[in-house]
Amino acid sequence: MSQIDSILHQAPLSRNDIVYLLKVEGQEKKRLFEAARRVKSQYVGKRVYFRGLIEFSNICSKNCYYCGIRRANQNTERYNLTDSEILDAVRFAYENQYGSVVLQSGEVSSPAFTRRISGLLRKIQEISGGTLGVTLSLGEQPEEVYREWLENGAHRYLLRIEASNRQLYQKLHPQDQIHDYDNRLESLRTLQRVGYQTGTGVMIGTPFQRWEDLADDLLFMRDFDIDMVGMGPYIEHKDTPLYKYRDQLVSEQERFQLTLKMTAILRIMMKDINIAAATALQAIDPVGREKALKAGANVIMPNVTPGMYRNNYKLYENKPCTDEQAADCTNCLDVRIGMVGDEIAYGERGDPKHFFVRKNQ
Ligand code: 5AD
Ligand code: SF4
Ligand code: FES
Repeated sequence: MSQIDSILHQAPLSRNDIVYLLKVEGQEKKRLFEAARRVKSQYVGKRVYFRGLIEFSNICSKNCYYCGIRRANQNTERYNLTDSEILDAVRFAYENQYGSVVLQSGEVSSPAFTRRISGLLRKIQEISGGTLGVTLSLGEQPEEVYREWLENGAHRYLLRIEASNRQLYQKLHPQDQIHDYDNRLESLRTLQRVGYQTGTGVMIGTPFQRWEDLADDLLFMRDFDIDMVGMGPYIEHKDTPLYKYRDQLVSEQERFQLTLKMTAILRIMMKDINIAAATALQAIDPVGREKALKAGANVIMPNVTPGMYRNNYKLYENKPCTDEQAADCTNCLDVRIGMVGDEIAYGERGDPKHFFVRKNQ
């Protein structure tokens, strides 16, 4: 048996195995993607779940070194959708059978913000008769806030660890209380403990990142028993402190290929979780997300933010679908997903099987 086959038949994968798989090229790379595709069709099928992404505000209290909407960036126009604009986007997603919505914004923590989100969650329940899946992606919050939102109808939460290696995390963030690695880890644990379907993820190809860090990121997700993952290529943004390291990066194409390999390896390691095809892939390759579906992803997050605001939620450059209207993406994606042999699971919430297995343990 060749080395790739013996690794692929091995469980669980070790750190060295993963590093080997991250470096495969040519025939071996093809074998990796085929193996992931087989696992995907056996465990999660070819149905792709939609989450209508509503980026309702780019106001953020943090200063992550990589992010275009960090607080200190004064070159971005700040916006905050009204509740009725947000609920229009929710109705759009519901009426177009998206199955779930994601509420995402910069990180803000205040009693008024907590109340606002709780109110929106109750309205979303009303609009959809409680059928729409609701994911929150609102950063680190106190446990009682996580609980309140859960009680008001949210049931999934995304909080990327960004880099599971503490030293790397610290290089990507300011050294202060609000960017503390331990707090982030604790938030992720809290989310899982209070009962959310819990998602995390990392950026791939950041400055200072080594092969071993990427392998450890995948092991972190497995050891954490995570239900959902969204990970994408790092894309430099000119208004951020990390931009000065752009000459040290591997090429965009390499970051793209690494993201596909990370997706494939994760699918092999965690067969029944939900894995999102990162939107940032599309910033590099026009059919980037579709390639991720072929490599094992099963979730797509079409942007349903009203068109006029999309241009201002620029975490990174070249973000796709920023000048179209939401309706365009539905038809566009229907064709695109069909082309890779998958189909959209219209009207289904698409909860990760892994969550129920984990709960019943
Ligand atoms: N490149 C890629 N992804 C980024 N994010 C933030 N900035 C960038 C960037 N420059 C990601 C982070 C965050 C998510 C919402 O967007 O991982 O968690
Ligand atoms: Fe704010 Fe998130 Fe950007 Fe960090 S990554 S600056 S928390 S929006
Ligand atoms: Fe948004 Fe094609 S997916 S326009």
